[in-house]
Amino acid sequence: MKMQFKKLIVLLWIFLMVDYSSASSNNTDDHSFIFSEGFSEANFSLDGAASITPNGLLKLTMDEQQQKGHAFFPKRIPFRQSPAGNIFSFSTTFIFAIISPYAKLSGHGIVFFVSPTTNFSTANPSQFFGLFNPNNNGNSSNNIFAVELDTIQNSELHDIDDDHVGIDINGVISDLSHHAGYFDNLTGKFHNLSLYSGDPMQVWIDYDGGEMKLNVTLAPIQIPKPKRPLLSLVVNLSSILLDSMYVGFSSSTGTVMASHYILGWSFKMNGLRSEALNISTLPSLPTQATIEEKPKSLMTIWLPVAAVSLALLISMAVIVILIMVRKRRKKFEELVEDWEQQYGPQRLSYKALFKATKGFKDKQLLGTGGFGKVYKGTLHKSDTEVAVKRVSNESRQGMREFIAEIASLGRLRHRNIVQLLGYCRTKSELLLVYEYMPNGSLDKSLHCRDKPALKWSQRLHIIKGVASGLEYLHEDCEQVVIHRDIKTNNVLLDSELNGRLGDFGLARLYDHGIDFQTTHVVGTMGYLAPELARTGRATTLTDVFAFGIFILEVVCGKKPIEPKSQSLLVDWVVENWQKGTILDTRDPRLEEESYIVDDLELVLELGLLCSHPLPTLRPTMRQVVQYLNGDAPLPQLSFAFLSSRGFDEFVLSYPVSSSTPIRSGDDQFETLQKQAEDSVVYIC
Ligand SMILES: *[C@@H]1O[C@H](CO)[C@@H](O)[C@H](O)[C@H]1NC(C)=O
Ligand SMILES: *[C@@H]1O[C@H](CO)[C@@H](O)[C@H](O)[C@H]1NC(C)=O
Ligand SMILES: *[C@@H]1O[C@H](CO)[C@@H](O)[C@H](O)[C@H]1NC(C)=O
Ligand SMILES: *[C@@H]1O[C@H](CO)[C@@H](O)[C@H](O)[C@H]1NC(C)=O
Ligand SMILES: *[C@@H]1O[C@H](CO)[C@@H](O)[C@H](O)[C@H]1NC(C)=O
Ligand SMILES: *[C@@H]1O[C@H](CO)[C@@H](O)[C@H](O)[C@H]1NC(C)=O
Ligand SMILES: *[C@@H]1O[C@H](CO)[C@@H](O)[C@H](O)[C@H]1NC(C)=O
Ligand SMILES: *[C@@H]1O[C@H](CO)[C@@H](O)[C@H](O)[C@H]1NC(C)=O
Ligand SMILES: *[C@@H]1O[C@H](CO)[C@@H](O)[C@H](O)[C@H]1NC(C)=O
Repeated sequence: MKMQFKKLIVLLWIFLMVDYSSASSNNTDDHSFIFSEGFSEANFSLDGAASITPNGLLKLTMDEQQQKGHAFFPKRIPFRQSPAGNIFSFSTTFIFAIISPYAKLSGHGIVFFVSPTTNFSTANPSQFFGLFNPNNNGNSSNNIFAVELDTIQNSELHDIDDDHVGIDINGVISDLSHHAGYFDNLTGKFHNLSLYSGDPMQVWIDYDGGEMKLNVTLAPIQIPKPKRPLLSLVVNLSSILLDSMYVGFSSSTGTVMASHYILGWSFKMNGLRSEALNISTLPSLPTQATIEEKPKSLMTIWLPVAAVSLALLISMAVIVILIMVRKRRKKFEELVEDWEQQYGPQRLSYKALFKATKGFKDKQLLGTGGFGKVYKGTLHKSDTEVAVKRVSNESRQGMREFIAEIASLGRLRHRNIVQLLGYCRTKSELLLVYEYMPNGSLDKSLHCRDKPALKWSQRLHIIKGVASGLEYLHEDCEQVVIHRDIKTNNVLLDSELNGRLGDFGLARLYDHGIDFQTTHVVGTMGYLAPELARTGRATTLTDVFAFGIFILEVVCGKKPIEPKSQSLLVDWVVENWQKGTILDTRDPRLEEESYIVDDLELVLELGLLCSHPLPTLRPTMRQVVQYLNGDAPLPQLSFAFLSSRGFDEFVLSYPVSSSTPIRSGDDQFETLQKQAEDSVVYIC
C-alpha cells in the first residue's frame, strides 16, 4: 500500500515536471526567425570571405582559393531548458546555391552548423569547412553539430563521393552521408541531384528531441518537401550541444574554388515545422551575364567630375601605398621560433637571401610554378649560385613538422636529386634554397623551339638519371620518400645535362596543411595515376605512373595532354603500339642516325608499362633501373584485354581496389585535366 502511494507520488512528480517544461517552452518563440526576402536587414555576424550582396544574398565565399567564411544569427539561442534537460526539438530550412567556375568540379561546400562559439580563427579552409582543423577534428569538446553539403571527395575523411550530404558531429568525418538527391513521394524512387549545378536547392533539418531523431531532406526548390528524408539518424544531441548555442553557415574553398550562396533561411526552436520560405520573394542569384556586364560607355564626362575623381584617386593611391609599405615591412619580418634552433645550419637569414637575389628582382626570376616563384641568386659568403623558391605561407599550421621534414630531406644526397641547401621563414613566406641548375628545367628543352633539340643519347641519359634518383627516394632512403609530382618541369638539368629531380617532398606541404589545404589531388594533370585522381592517396606506384608518362613525354617530345584536343599522349602511344608503329611516336626532332631502334622501342614500352592503369602491373623503380640498364628483360606488355573498350576508358573506370566502389569518375577526371592545363606554366 505504502509502496503504491510512493509510486503514485513519483509519477505525479514526473507528470508535473513534464507539464512544466512544455508550458514554459512557449517563451522560446523569439528564437525562431525567417529570412525570406534576403539578408540585408539580418544583422548577421559575418567573418572571413562572407558578405551580404547588395541584393540581399548571403555570399559565403568568392571565386578565390583557400578561403573560409562564416555567417551567424547574431544572438545565442537556448537549446534546452536547464543543463540537466534534453535538447529541444528544432527545425530549420534554407535555400542555397553553389556556383562553380568549372562545369563538373567544385569546392568545398556549405555547412549548416550549431556551435558554442563564433571564433573559428584556428579552423582550416578546404575539407575542414572553416569549422575544424586537423588537431581538433573529432574532439568531443568541440560541441558542434553540422550538416555538410560536400562537393569534394576526401578519401582520408571517408567521403563517399564528391557530391554528398552528411551529418557531422564534432568533426568532418560524417556519422551518416548520402549522395545528393531526394526520394520521390509517389514512387519512392531516388533522384540524383548535383549540389554544384548552380541551381538553388532547399534543405530541411528536423530534430525531434523526444525521439532523438534527426532528419535531413534535400530537394530542388520547385518541389515541396519530400516525405522520406535523405538522411535519418538517431542521435542524442543532448550529449553534444551545450545550453545555448550559435547557429549559422560556414563555407570554404581549397585549391578548387566556387561561390557559395544562401538565399533564404528559416529556423524554429522548439517545434518541428519551421516556417516555409516563400520562393517568389528570394533575392535572385547573379547570372553569368550580370557578372560580365560591362560598364556603360561614358559619353558625358564632365571636366570637374574628372578632376575630383583624379584627386580622389591620387589620395587613395597614396594611402594604399602607405598601407602597403607598412604591410611589407611586417611581412618580411623574419620568424624564428625556439624549436627551430635545432635545425641551425639549415636556416638562412632573409637578409642574405634578399641580397643574394638582388632584392628578388624580376630580372632574377627563373620561373613560376605551382608552389611559387623561383629566383636565381648568389650567396655572397660562399659565392655559390642558388635557386630560391618563394612559397607563400599564410598559415602556420603544421609548420614545425614541415620544417623537420625539410631538414631531413636536406640530408638526402644523390647525384640525380637537386640538393636542398637551406630555408628561411618570414611571416608570410617560406623560402627554400636549392642548388642552381644552369640548364633549367627539362620541359623547356623539350618544348621550346628556340632551344636546340636534345639528342637521343642525352634523353636516355636523363631518363636513366631520373630513374636512379627516384629509385634512391623509394628504396634506398631511411624512410620511403614519395615524390608526388614527377613531371618534366620538376626535372632540372645541371651543367653536364644530368637530369636531377627537384621539388621532392614539397608536395608534402599539402599534408601539413600549409597554404594548400586540400589533399584531394596532389600532382599535375596528365601525370596523375587513375587511382590517385580517385582516392587522393599517393604511393610509390603513383610515382611510377608519373615516371612512365615522363618517359613518353621525353621520347615523343609531346605534352602528356595535347592542349588543343585534350587527348592523352599515352592513348596515342598505346594505339601505335597495338598497330606495330610505336617507333612513329618518337619526337620528330630526333635525328635518324642518333638512336638505336631497340633502345628506343624498349624505352617507349617501359613508359607504357610504368603508366599501366593497373597499379599491380607497374614495375618498382628498382626494376625500372634494371630494365634500363639491360640487367633484366622487359616483361611482355599486355593491353590486349583492353582493346574492346580502349585504353582511355579503362584508365578512367577501373576499380582502385576491391573495397572501393566503381564510380564513373570520367567527368571529374576530364575537368581536372582541363583545370590543370592552366596551372602548368612553361616559361621559355
Ligand atoms: C504554449 O503553447 C501551447 C500551444 O501552442 C498552448 O496550448 C499553451 O497554452 C501555451 N502555454 C503557455 C504557458 O503560454
Ligand atoms: C537589425 O538591427 C537594426 C538596428 O539595430 C534593427 O532595427 C533591426 O530590427 C534588426 N534586424 C533584425 C532582423 O534583428
Ligand atoms: C579567437 O581565438 C583565438 C585563439 O583561440 C584567439 O587568439 C583570438 O583572440 C580569438 N578572437 C576573438 C575575437 O575572440
Ligand atoms: C580535445 O580538446 C580538449 C580541449 O581543447 C583537449 O584538452 C583534449 O586533449 C582534446 N582531446 C583529444 C583527444 O585531442
Ligand atoms: C546517382 O549517382 C550515383 C553516383 O554518381 C550513381 O551511382 C547512381 O547510379 C545514380 N542514381 C541514379 C538514379 O541516377
Ligand atoms: C523523420 O522521418 C521519418 C520518416 O522517415 C518520420 O517518420 C519522422 O517523423 C521524421 N522525424 C522528424 C524529426 O522529422
Ligand atoms: C510529399 O508528401 C508530403 C507529406 O504528405 C507533402 O507535404 C509534400 O507536398 C509531398 N511532396 C510532393 C513532391 O508531392
Ligand atoms: C542523452 O544525453 C544526455 C546527456 O548526456 C543524458 O543525460 C541522457 O540520459 C541521454 N539520453 C539517452 C536516452 O541516452
Ligand atoms: C509569396 O510572395 C508573393 C509575392 O510577395 C505573394 O504574392 C504570395 O502570396 C506569397 N506566398 C505565400 C505562400 O506567402
